[in-house]
Amino acid sequence: MSVAAVTYRAGTPEDGAAMLSIHTRAIEFVAVRDYGEEMARSWAHGLTIEGYARSMADGEIFEVAVCDGRVVGFCGYKNDEICGLYVDPDFGRRGIASRLLERALRTLQDRGHRRVKVDSSITASPFYRQRGFRVIRERTRMTRGGMEIPTVDLEWHAPDAQTFTGTG
Ligand SMILES: CC(C)(COP(=O)(O)OP(=O)(O)OC[C@H]1O[C@@H](n2cnc3c(N)ncnc32)[C@H](O)[C@@H]1OP(=O)(O)O)[C@@H](O)C(=O)NCCC(=O)NCCS
Repeated sequence: MSVAAVTYRAGTPEDGAAMLSIHTRAIEFVAVRDYGEEMARSWAHGLTIEGYARSMADGEIFEVAVCDGRVVGFCGYKNDEICGLYVDPDFGRRGIASRLLERALRTLQDRGHRRVKVDSSITASPFYRQRGFRVIRERTRMTRGGMEIPTVDLEWHAPDAQTFTGTG
């Protein structure tokens, strides 16, 4: 299947079940390679279908990637922060997360944000770095399952607007 078959749209509360599945599978099959079973389980612990609708009601915006009618990836962002970026492991490394992030950054810039933050997994940190984010600090975060797991704070800065310096 080619990336051309993937479309993008705003996420809705009805996407909750698909997002839960992607979220859980991305942690359990991809991030587990960096975190190990125990931390991955603790990270995925407590995720619910309703949680996404609650986040939406709290102002988080979701973009989803759809392939053949199936939601296969999503990005959530709020204020000046990327809150989550997950792609189903069966659809990884096809540019889906890159496109979701690009769309989120464009919207955030359109809303006037010149700086965007993310508290990234160690798994996604190389992905963000390759897309222009800079590491601010490495730290730990408490999961819903009650375990400290290592994460990385990164920041992206919008490129300076072209300034016309000519005199003519
Ligand atoms: C990180 C993630 C969102 C990337 O999704 P994706 O759709 O596969 O990413 P893309 O195809 O757009 O980009 C892939 C590129 O990112 C980089 N990349 C992605 N994952 C990487 C990893 N684990 N290590 C190093 N580079 C990685 C590579 O440059 C890769 O390009 P390549 O395939 O040419 O080598 C996905 O792997 C995922 O859901 N991971 C687990 C959950 C997670 O940690 N999410 C972030 C929470 S903050």
